[in-house]
Amino acid sequence: MKRFKKILKWTGIVLLVLITVLSITVAARQNLKYDAPYPNIKASTDTAVINRGRHLVYTTAHCINCHYRGNADSLIDLDKDVPLTGGVEFELPVGNIYSKNITPDMETGIGKRTDAEIARMLRYGVRPDGTAVLDFMPFHNMTDEDLVSIISFLRSQTPVQNKVPDHKLNVLGYLVKAFMVKPVGPTGTVAKSITRDSSATYGEYLALHVSECNGCHTRRDMSGGYIGEPFAGGNDIEGYMSVNLTPDSTGRIFGWSKQNFIDRFRMGKLYPKSPMPWNSFKRMSDTELTAIYNYLHTVKPVKAVYPLNRQ
Ligand code: HEC
Ligand code: HEC
Repeated sequence: MKRFKKILKWTGIVLLVLITVLSITVAARQNLKYDAPYPNIKASTDTAVINRGRHLVYTTAHCINCHYRGNADSLIDLDKDVPLTGGVEFELPVGNIYSKNITPDMETGIGKRTDAEIARMLRYGVRPDGTAVLDFMPFHNMTDEDLVSIISFLRSQTPVQNKVPDHKLNVLGYLVKAFMVKPVGPTGTVAKSITRDSSATYGEYLALHVSECNGCHTRRDMSGGYIGEPFAGGNDIEGYMSVNLTPDSTGRIFGWSKQNFIDRFRMGKLYPKSPMPWNSFKRMSDTELTAIYNYLHTVKPVKAVYPLNRQ
């Protein structure tokens, strides 16, 4: 009996030591620092560049979808700027995450950040203090020209003071942050610019690096890694199943003409809670939508049908 108690005591001590070591490791790994180059990006005050940035932010790169809490459409219809004050809450298994205020406010926004700091954050996922950005924004392969346009537009906004809550991580969140969150960067050399025409090449760039169609329409695992055939659909996102966009007869857009495709986008959101940023994408230009349509017809046809879960 005495021996048993002794074993119990030692097991307890060993466990306690292990838990303490793990907790200290997890705590110490919360603010790991990384390094990444500063892209040579400088904001411009040229109206054409700013307008191009506005189009990307409001439409093709759908920043407003995550950085504005209200109904952007009504402001845009009135020809008003949408204040990108952030604070949009994402309730995830790791905790509650809040998007940031990206207006040029000095205290609560990006006013104190340099152009190169913002560019590095978007391209390499590293904040000015060296910590990793959570990978919500897949713009790592965006061209220099598009980054310049976006940052020029961000700078041109009216600063709005809005203190966004800090992320509220749970135990799983702290573990994930300690061991799994790392900065995500470009997959290769990033082009300085790209020809904006209706070619499949431009469509590929938009679908993968600007609009993130693949992020939802290619199957992914819990940690976000791609496991499915490109664009074959099959992710359950907030109760909605993403559809198969490949040029197979089981694909959702099979038989759609280019005009059908454009018309569908112009309609915007048809299912009120659909997670797809239809209301941003409905403003995409005919050229952009045609480019994406052409690109989707070059991907491998895959047989895949999913039940259409729609509310
Ligand atoms: C899918 C949602 C989503 C989209 C789309 C999105 N963001 Fe974000 N953004 C976030 C979240 C969430 C954070 C907070 C990430 C973190 O703290 O690690 C963030 C953080 C940022 C930051 C860091 C700010 C800071 O001070 O740390 C910048 C800059 C930014 N976003 C700019 C943009 C721009 C520009 C676009 C469009 C080109 C965009 N975002 C599109 C969700 C999004
Ligand atoms: C945030 C996730 C998300 C993103 C990003 C996204 N989609 Fe979707 N998409 C969905 C979901 C979920 C559905 C099914 C619900 C619906 O129809 O709204 C869907 C449906 C569709 C449909 C079928 C519409 C219909 O009427 O049957 C098409 C076409 C489509 N997406 C194309 C695209 C293209 C092209 C892009 C990039 C420009 C894109 N999606 C980006 C999640 C997404």
